[in-house]
Amino acid sequence: MFSLPDLPYAYDALQPYMSKETLEYHHDKHHLAYVTNGNNLLKGTEWEGKSLEDIVKGSFGKNAPLFNNAGQHYNHIHFWKWMKPNGGGALPGKIEKAIISDIGSVDKFKEEFVAAGTTQFGSGWAWLSVKNGKLEISKTPNGESPLIHGASPILGVDVWEHSYYIDYRNRRPDYLKAFVDHLVNWDYVLEMYEAATK
Ligand code: FE2
Repeated sequence: MFSLPDLPYAYDALQPYMSKETLEYHHDKHHLAYVTNGNNLLKGTEWEGKSLEDIVKGSFGKNAPLFNNAGQHYNHIHFWKWMKPNGGGALPGKIEKAIISDIGSVDKFKEEFVAAGTTQFGSGWAWLSVKNGKLEISKTPNGESPLIHGASPILGVDVWEHSYYIDYRNRRPDYLKAFVDHLVNWDYVLEMYEAATK
């Protein structure tokens, strides 16, 4: 069964980059709906009792309604942890080194990550993930993630309008720049990188 995790910080902790109102709607309404719908759709399927990652990977291409809700549940569980108050800033050495080696530079990473989110047409996500031991930037529509493309996500940003419209209206690039510079919890990115490269 899916359950809604608490936010790891107060609803107003990410201001001014992400408002209390955005987090109240995004976490309490949108994420909760994925949990509730996902649980209803999971009942009686072959994936009941499986891990969330197995449900996401297994239902892709086979059960679209279940996949959409399970995928979004997975994405949002991590999205809350990919942010923190006073985030952004200096990258952990290990991540910085990998970004320089696989992408070119930290500035290039920021530019390409923001561009991926900006150019995702309609709803979706932009990602930094590990594939075959290397970092790569990508974008996916709706509830998809690098998980279903043979990669391990280590950072993702939600570009559905529900994530930014209250605070940034149509200025998605401004939201993405604020995310990269002021919200990213690099400690959690490092934790996922280490798990993905073990
Ligand atoms: Fe979302």
